[in-house]
Amino acid sequence: MTAADYVPARGGLAALRRAAADCHGCALYKDATQTVFGEGPSDARLMLVGEQPGDREDVEGEPFVGPAGKLLDRALKEAGIDRAEVYLTNAVKHFKFTLPERGKRRIHKKPSQGEVTACRPWLQAELDRVKPELVVCLGATAASALLGSGFRLTRQRGEIVSLPDGSGIPALATVHPSAVLRAPDREEAYQGLVADLAVVARHQA
Ligand code: URA
Ligand code: SF4
Repeated sequence: MTAADYVPARGGLAALRRAAADCHGCALYKDATQTVFGEGPSDARLMLVGEQPGDREDVEGEPFVGPAGKLLDRALKEAGIDRAEVYLTNAVKHFKFTLPERGKRRIHKKPSQGEVTACRPWLQAELDRVKPELVVCLGATAASALLGSGFRLTRQRGEIVSLPDGSGIPALATVHPSAVLRAPDREEAYQGLVADLAVVARHQA
């Protein structure tokens, strides 16, 4: 089972979003509140891809609205990129979490390779509709979903490569904003993210 059985052949982003709300392409829909589909203009020149929605995104139904999203907003602004002009999405569209104890905060759990593969048709459909001029992978999950499992974020971050999907769309991978929040030297990690986004801004200029 994958999302391929749910992706409509026709229609724009609105049709995709409607269909994704009922996706049962993997088991993650069962415990999550809702599908968190991508968001942004259908003619966006830039697409940013994260890992999966977090706790806030799961509740609100929009990508990057929690703490990682706030940090991303700040980094985008600092790099001179207008978030309103960006199409923002995730490699996996449902929140995966563990519930340590009753009443405790839900803890984000990394999606499996199988879940990333199951959800990949939605990401491909978004790419096909938006046709961005550049794709930014935020973190290793998005990088592996889009650039293949051979891609090494530590060695190749900030480097402009081509999507191997036949589209030839240029792509770049950088750290995930959540990794910045967890980094021992947060300021250094943040400046690294801003520097990579500045490469993106220059590419778009
Ligand atoms: N982290 C992600 O990867 N995506 C979101 O939408 C929020 C947090
Ligand atoms: Fe479908 Fe993706 Fe949600 Fe799995 S995570 S149910 S494939 S939308």
